[in-house]
Amino acid sequence: GAPKYRFLRQQGLRPSRKFPDALIIGVKKGGTRALLEFIRLHPDVRAAGSEVHFFDRFYSKGFTWYRHHMPPTLEGQVTMEKTPSYFVTREVPQRVRQMNPNTKLLVVVRDPVTRAISDYTQAASKKAGMRRFEDLAFLNGSGGLVDTSWGPVKIGVYARHLERWLRCFPLNQLLFVSGERLIVDPAAEMARVQDFLGLKRVVTEKHFYFNSTKGFPCLMKSEGRSSPHCLGKTKGRNHPHIDPAAIERLREFYRPFNARFYQLTGINFGWP
Ligand code: A3P
Repeated sequence: GAPKYRFLRQQGLRPSRKFPDALIIGVKKGGTRALLEFIRLHPDVRAAGSEVHFFDRFYSKGFTWYRHHMPPTLEGQVTMEKTPSYFVTREVPQRVRQMNPNTKLLVVVRDPVTRAISDYTQAASKKAGMRRFEDLAFLNGSGGLVDTSWGPVKIGVYARHLERWLRCFPLNQLLFVSGERLIVDPAAEMARVQDFLGLKRVVTEKHFYFNSTKGFPCLMKSEGRSSPHCLGKTKGRNHPHIDPAAIERLREFYRPFNARFYQLTGINFGWP
């Protein structure tokens, strides 16, 4: 009987697919997978497991397509998705606003210099024979100016990307998660995240342990998972050695953009 099921659905007793209430929009290599896996421990959160890329790649498929990529939820549960390229893609803020101007936006940020090296490390792991980081990050060999058109550099100019989001959303609809603190004190960062999402603080220090072999916080046994586990091998890679002079020049390049980002967010992330 359709009427009976409609009634159950209206009462929130039958799961249905809804548009996301909150998005993890970035940044790539900031710790976005860790944040998603940590917040999914919460019983009132349901999230799409893989990156949906609706607002950047598959927008032409339409909103019904998007909704069908969301997990079924019950009334009161928070629906989420993470696609890190949203933060840096020009058209995305307006499109998200069009879906729902009240969407909550989470951004995990990390020192843009280590983020760039992490991004490069990932690319080099997928493609054999890649040139050195130092050769790619600067124009005409490592002698020249910083190559601001190179993806790993460009993504780290957070202030520029944030300015575009702030033309569409008020600052209080964004939460900035420190990628560094998410490693050092995951429970404290997750308390902020749960408060922001209007959730009870269910994910706490009890969920984490520091795995000294991995060098990262990992998850204690949780619902659906019977044993402790860490994120996969592609999270927490060893980075190649980079010439300290190149690092210093990148730090100088980012300094004014970081200062602007601290000013816009009202948070000093303490990047060197
Ligand atoms: P590295 O592999 O360079 O260390 P993303 O999921 O956005 O791609 O981010 C990957 C980064 O998340 C990793 O970059 C790692 O530093 C960071 N990270 C944060 N918490 C982590 C955790 N608990 N386990 C593994 N990596 C974590």
